[in-house]
Amino acid sequence: MKINVLLISKHSSNLAAIRGMIDDEDIAVIGQSSGGTDALERIDNLSPDIIIMTLGAGDNDVRSLTERIIFNRPRSHVILLAEYLDVDILQSALSVGAHNVIEFPKSSKDFCEYIKTVYNNESARIESLSGKQSLSWISKVITVYGAKGGIGKTTLAVNLAVKLAESRKKVALVDLDLQFGDANVFLDIVPVDTIFELAQELASPNIDLIRSYMSVHSSGVHVLCAPKSPEYAELITPEKIQSILSQLRTYYDYVIIDTSPSYNDVTITALEASSTILFLTGLDISILKNSKLSLNILRSLQQVNKVKIIVNRAVSIGSITLDDVQKLIDCPIWAKLPSDYKVAVTALNRGVPFVTGAPKSELSQAVSTVASMLLEGTEDVDTLSIKQRKKLGLMNNGRRQTNRR
Ligand SMILES: Nc1ncnc2c1ncn2[C@@H]1O[C@H](COP(=O)(O)OP(=O)(O)OP(=O)(O)O)[C@@H](O)[C@H]1O
Ligand SMILES: [Mg+2]
Repeated sequence: MKINVLLISKHSSNLAAIRGMIDDEDIAVIGQSSGGTDALERIDNLSPDIIIMTLGAGDNDVRSLTERIIFNRPRSHVILLAEYLDVDILQSALSVGAHNVIEFPKSSKDFCEYIKTVYNNESARIESLSGKQSLSWISKVITVYGAKGGIGKTTLAVNLAVKLAESRKKVALVDLDLQFGDANVFLDIVPVDTIFELAQELASPNIDLIRSYMSVHSSGVHVLCAPKSPEYAELITPEKIQSILSQLRTYYDYVIIDTSPSYNDVTITALEASSTILFLTGLDISILKNSKLSLNILRSLQQVNKVKIIVNRAVSIGSITLDDVQKLIDCPIWAKLPSDYKVAVTALNRGVPFVTGAPKSELSQAVSTVASMLLEGTEDVDTLSIKQRKKLGLMNNGRRQTNRR
């Protein structure tokens, strides 16, 4: 969905300059006005999502128009641009209820990102006021883990993050596969900074500092990429990871963590900081053997109650069934993802997650269902609705799955 923007300024040079700064496929400038009655009519006719106005000292007309919009058109969100952002300008904006006030943008990319953030935040606020949104606002940390390399951890982490961001959630993706993390490849991101550069900061990083080291994906997901070279991994301490994760929780609705398949201090830190562990397994005996061992370790770390088992590449070509998986690992299956090599590999090679590149594919639908269950907070296998269980293909096991943990 495009964000429709209306520009208002009495200076045509400002209008042209702002227009020139908006270059993003998700944002459309649908009109402009020099202010006064013309501006009111355009707002009425166009119902823009965002109204960008310039504000200078003594611009009382802009202040009163802002106030009228905030009171009467709460779904059109105002952004005020000031030449210089001093205390007087800021106070004059705040006094009429405007809180999205910035200096004239210097970079088109940052400006477009700012517009999207304002739109997402303000829309979420309006929705929660009208009671349509879940009241849950506590951040969730979701670690995607699996006891073997190549099991699909990054595939799920990336697609899940993008899917959650589609629901206007603030989503961070943290690549904690510190040696060989490739979440950036799945998203076609070439990071300037990574978690390694962030970890070199001496003090405990605050959220603004952390965000300045993250890459922004077009879906809105903010990505803290893995180091550019494997040898940097050992320079990143679990304490640093812990403090980064706890800061991320203060800002993002969802923090999705991708991991390496080994149990190291960093992975354990992530697992302990998580509210949910999405534990990937598969239908082959070697994966199942490792999964069982791994779940035993999680049990001894007292983390097993957070585990949701997801069977990836769940095709019944072999002799192992979902029932066998449950028996072998002694844990209920929470979800399953179909095998679709073409969709998965095309997405990876193009750097476009399949939930956006191939949204109708069965694989995307399955990830979407997982995202919906997380959004709805349906995280206990026994509380899944019949519809959800049917969607996940968990209805044909012949018996009710009991939680034996
Ligand atoms: N459901 C699926 N169907 C078909 N192919 C899949 C599926 N899930 C993942 N793949 C493919 O399997 C390969 C490995 O996936 P991925 O990189 O996500 O695994 P990983 O667990 O992160 O691996 P590593 O431990 O090396 O980081 C990729 O080529 C991916 O496209
Ligand atoms: Mg991976």
